[in-house]
Amino acid sequence: MRCVVANWKMNMLQGEASTFCDTFLEGYTPKDNVQVAVAPPFTLLTAVHDMLREKGIITIAQNGHYAKRGAFTGEIAMAQVKDAGANGVIIGHSERRHLFGETDEVVGKKLVKARAKGLLPVLCVGETLQDRDSGNTFMVLRQQLQVVAQAGPGPLWVAYEPVWAIGTGRRADLAQIQEAHAFIREEVQVAFGVPGTNVPILYGGSVTPDNFGEVLGVQHVAGALVGGASLDPAKFLQLVGIAQS
Ligand code: 13P
Repeated sequence: MRCVVANWKMNMLQGEASTFCDTFLEGYTPKDNVQVAVAPPFTLLTAVHDMLREKGIITIAQNGHYAKRGAFTGEIAMAQVKDAGANGVIIGHSERRHLFGETDEVVGKKLVKARAKGLLPVLCVGETLQDRDSGNTFMVLRQQLQVVAQAGPGPLWVAYEPVWAIGTGRRADLAQIQEAHAFIREEVQVAFGVPGTNVPILYGGSVTPDNFGEVLGVQHVAGALVGGASLDPAKFLQLVGIAQS
C-alpha cells in the first residue's frame, strides 16, 4: 500500500481548511492501493476528520504529549488527539526536534503512548546537512531509529525527511533516498523481524507533483509526507493521482 500524507504544519484557518476539503473531495476518487492522510493543526483536527472520513481519508495530529493528563500548559495528550478524531500522530518531526528541542527519549515515549491510545505513529527521522557533510547520516538515522526497537513490533509508518530538504526546494536525489530507505528498512526489520518488511517508509522534503513520480520509483519508498505542496488542493490531488497510477 502507498501512503500520501499532507502535513499542513502551522497553516490554515477554518475557512481555508473547509475550502481545501471541498475542492479536494470534488476531484478525489479513492483507490485501494493508496491511503491518503491529512495532518492539520490541532484546532482543525475534528473538522477535517469529519469532512474527509467518508472517503476513507485518515486524519493525523502533528504532535501529542506522552503524559496521560495534568499540568502541562499548552500541551495536548494522545488521548485528546484521539478524542478529537485523529487516527494517527506525527512523532519526532524535525521541526519538533530542532525548533522545540525534542530528544530521542521524548520521541520514544510519545511513540509508546501513541500506540497505547490506538493512534498510528508516523515517526520522522532525518539528518541535518552538517550530519551528511561529516559522513554521519547513517549513524544519526540509527540513533533516531532506536525508539523503534525499544517500542517493539506494532503499528508504524516511518518518514525519512532529510532536514536540509525540508521547505528548501532541494529534494534529496534518488540515490540518497534509495540508500537511506534501504537502511531504514533494514533497521526496522532487525527491530521487528518479518513484520518490519511491511512498515511503510515515506520520503519527505520538497516533494512536488513534478518530482514525486521518480521518488515513488525508488525501492522501499511507499509514499510521501508533503509540506508546502499539500496546502494547495490541486497539487495534493495531483500527488495522490501519481501514487494511485
Ligand atoms: P516540504 O514538503 O515543504 O519540504 O515539507 C516537508 C515536511 O516537513 C513534511 O513533514
